[in-house]
Amino acid sequence: MRSEKGGRKTKAVEGTDSLSPLTSHVSPDPDLAELRRTEFPWTDETTYLNNASIGPLPERTRLVLEAFNRKRAAPFQLPDRELFATMADSRRLVAELIGALPEEIGLTINTGFGLSLAARALPLRVGDIVLTSDREFPANVYPWMLLRDSGVDLELAPTTSQGWPDEDHLLDRLQDPRVRVLAISLVQFSNGYTIDLARLSAATRASGTFLVVDAIQGVGQIPVDLRKTPVDVLACGAQKWLLSPWGSGFVYVRQELIGELRPSMTGWMAFEGTDDYTRLTQYNDTLRGDARRFEMITLPYQEFAGMNASLGLLLETGISSIAEHLRALQSPVLEWAARCGIKVVSPVGARGSGILCVAPADVGSAFRALKKARVVCGMREGAIRLSPHLYNTVAEMERVVDILETS
Ligand SMILES: Cc1ncc(COP(=O)(O)O)c(C=O)c1O
Repeated sequence: MRSEKGGRKTKAVEGTDSLSPLTSHVSPDPDLAELRRTEFPWTDETTYLNNASIGPLPERTRLVLEAFNRKRAAPFQLPDRELFATMADSRRLVAELIGALPEEIGLTINTGFGLSLAARALPLRVGDIVLTSDREFPANVYPWMLLRDSGVDLELAPTTSQGWPDEDHLLDRLQDPRVRVLAISLVQFSNGYTIDLARLSAATRASGTFLVVDAIQGVGQIPVDLRKTPVDVLACGAQKWLLSPWGSGFVYVRQELIGELRPSMTGWMAFEGTDDYTRLTQYNDTLRGDARRFEMITLPYQEFAGMNASLGLLLETGISSIAEHLRALQSPVLEWAARCGIKVVSPVGARGSGILCVAPADVGSAFRALKKARVVCGMREGAIRLSPHLYNTVAEMERVVDILETS
């Protein structure tokens, strides 16, 4: 795989950022073979296509966790400065990944924390409407639903006939001044639809509507640059496409908004002066000026040490390279679906992503056949969800087709 950072030896494809040699089953790319051997050694035995559910930990991450936990067993080996440096590295790496400033990143244990923060801290009033789509993952629905108690309504906009967010309709609804928030997933969990972030960003900037993004199904598999496509809040757990431990994640809050948001739950290090452990009882209720004001310290430091290692792998590989690789992997399945008239639930093209969902006539037996053949994937909303990552090969996807054809 071609590296954008030059960290790992890779083979460039002339004139493109493409990973085609890597994806070729005819002449397997040595770099991909090396990646599988060193970072994902179990890939010889199991075809894992379930990153939309749980991302595997690269070997480098597993080793970091082991080493960190070894020190944790004797905590005098883990000075505060090392813990603080780990967290600072996490904020810096996340910022690099999404085109943000480290000061705009608060570390969290999952996606729901960031979405709940948005629901509780954005300045919403009785009669305001939060707009989302009616097939959103529940993490992006329930925190808003609870606001009904405070007179803020959640409007679940109907999806298109294909089951994708209806962006035209969502943008129409922004004309209603009661719509104060548009809360939407960057990539839909059940079909891989990728929102047109540039369009929604521009429209919400124009209407003065808050744009809150559940990014867990997108960050790590499609490029995100918030300098180009501003949003107000972006929440992301790192356990899927960021190949990181459970309990690691982050929330991004746009710099100009940070000072306006007062968290309704707080941790003791969200306040100024708490870095100095010698005067902790000289209380000062000034919230920090950066996104650390949203962090609920103590956080699981070991998971963030692990996340840093995984982000290192993803950044050195390059997210645009990963995105192209994932699109190339879909070819055998899309060809088979077209040839055999199988329903493809996911968009292809600009609104697609690395998640490909297909619905053969007997989804249940197809899913069982894949499972029996040690192909791990998901079944969501009546379709088989294939969600490969940087370590998968075209040969694996061809095997999936062979199994589906005979199931
Ligand atoms: C779109 C989406 N949001 C959120 C989550 C998970 O939320 P959390 O990280 O809070 O468990 C998932 C999947 O589990 C998801 O697909």
